[in-house]
Parts: sequence; structure tokens; C-alpha cells
Amino acid sequence: MKEHNLSSAQDFILLGISGQQEQEDIFFILFLFIYPTTLIGNLLIILAIRSDSHLHNPMYFLLANLSLVDIFFSSATIPKMLANHILCSKVISFEGCLTQMCFMLALGNTDSYILAAMAYDRAVAISRPLHYTTIMSPRACVLLVVGSWVIGNSNAFPHTLLTANLSFCGSREVANFYCDIASLLKLSCSDIQFNVKMMYLGVGVFSVPLLCIIISYIRVFSTVLKVPSTKGVRKAFSTCGSHLTVVSLYYGTVMGMYFRPLTSYSLKDAVVTVMYIAVTPMLNPFIYSLRNRDMKAALRKLFTKRISS
Ligand SMILES: *[C@@H]1O[C@H](CO)[C@@H](O)[C@H](O)[C@H]1NC(C)=O
Repeated sequence: MKEHNLSSAQDFILLGISGQQEQEDIFFILFLFIYPTTLIGNLLIILAIRSDSHLHNPMYFLLANLSLVDIFFSSATIPKMLANHILCSKVISFEGCLTQMCFMLALGNTDSYILAAMAYDRAVAISRPLHYTTIMSPRACVLLVVGSWVIGNSNAFPHTLLTANLSFCGSREVANFYCDIASLLKLSCSDIQFNVKMMYLGVGVFSVPLLCIIISYIRVFSTVLKVPSTKGVRKAFSTCGSHLTVVSLYYGTVMGMYFRPLTSYSLKDAVVTVMYIAVTPMLNPFIYSLRNRDMKAALRKLFTKRISS
């Protein structure tokens, strides 16, 4: 167990989710199920939306974009975890570690901003239905999506560069199953005060969308309470409950993880990160499509078309 087969002094060791072999085996089997489900579920959403012209509207374009980000997001960590388990290795190279961290931060932030765009879209649909098509124009949609990617990436590169410049002279055991920024900072023997401040600022930037989501939903609820029984409003509102579930799971676990002092991080927290790294990207397609008649119709059409052709 002590022999980690370090191929280079620069390599890091990923301790895993619990650090105990039997539990790692259980997580391996769990991830072996979660990862393909995430890929297939999100891919089906994208294909269904692309192929059904009824779904060519802002809400579904944003959903397809969320699915795309989720596919990349889970691919940044889970395949490496699976491969390491199969190869009985815990090693990740220094460059691999930083790349993984950068992708995680960029995609996690992009995800967060797209969730906000989706909430904004619902707020406009419900509280200003007559202006919906002018406010959520194709241009505005592209702007929201591109903006999410730009902000997501800008909240990733600076942290990656800052971390790359740290020196790691002591233990190289990362207390997680992927290279998480907090776990890496904890390992450094450099002065990390500035890095930690930047990390909290980063969590702040990540959490701005949550504020937009809350404001959007206050608008939604106040509109629904004022005009309770319009059919259009009720239909638009039905998609909100599922959105709120995803949002609470996602922000609840991320903020629970990062809004606290660095010294309190330990391997126990790796289980919490499983929630937003593996579980929410897998749940998104199900939550958004199971309760949604249009989405189900599009999926059905997708399958019958494939089978008949
Ligand atoms: C993402 O959103 C843009 C803008 O609405 C849209 O043109 C594009 O098709 C979407 N991407 C996917 C994968 O559907």
C-alpha cells in the first residue's frame, strides 16, 4: 500500500473517496454505472432537442448547452478515477493534475452560469410572456451561452496559474479522487494566503448566479401567485420545480464544501464532492425530461426515427 510507484517526483497521489479499499471498490462500481448513464442521458437530450423543431426555443437551447457542459464536466474526472482503479494506481502527473483542476473550475463555473440563464429564461417566460420572444432573442441566447463560457474560463485560468507557481515539497497526497483546488492548496509549502483569498473570490464569482436564480424565482413565484390559474403560466411553472431541485443540490454541496476554512478540509469531504461532480450531471437529464411532456415526445420521436430508418 505504501508503494505508490511514483514515476516522477512531480507526480501527485489521489487518495480516493474514502481511502479504504473496499469502499473504493463500491465507488468504482457506482461510477461505472453513473458515468455511462451521464453520457447517454445528456447525449440523448442534445439529440432530441436538435432533431425536434418544436424544441427549437431558448429554454431547450439552454438545456442542450447544460447537457454539453455536463458531459465535459464529468469526463474531466471520472474516466481518470476509473482508469486508476483498474490499473491499481493512484498516480496523476503534475500537469494532469493542473489540467484536471482547470477543467473542473472552468466547467463548474460555466454550468453555474448556464443554470442562471435557465432561471432567467423561466422568469421572463412567466412574468413577461408578451415580451418573451423579443427579450430572449436568438442573439440574447447566444450571448448568455457565450458569456457563461467566458466567465467560466476566466474563473479557472488565474487559479490554475497561481497553483502552478506553488511549490510542493512535503506530502503529495491529494485528499480526494481528483485534483481539487482546496486539497492542492493544503499540500503546498509556499505562502498560500493570496491563493486562498483568490479561491474565496472564485467561490464568490461562482455563487453570483445563485443570486440571479433566487431573484428570478422570486419574480416567478410572485407572478404565479398573482395569476394563479392561467394555463400558460402553469405549464411554464411546471418546469421550475425540477430546475430548483438541481440548483439546490448543486449549490448546496459546492458552497458547503468551499465556504469554510482550508484547515477543515479532509478526505471525509471527498464524498460531498461526489454529489456535484457525479450525481448532479447524471440527474440533470432525468430531472428535466421525465416531468416534461414535450421532451418525452421528442425522445420517443428520436427512437422511432432511428428504428425505422
Ligand atoms: C447552445 O445555445 C446556442 C444558442 O442558443 C445554440 O445555438 C446551440 O445550438 C446550443 N448548443 C447545443 C449543443 O444545443
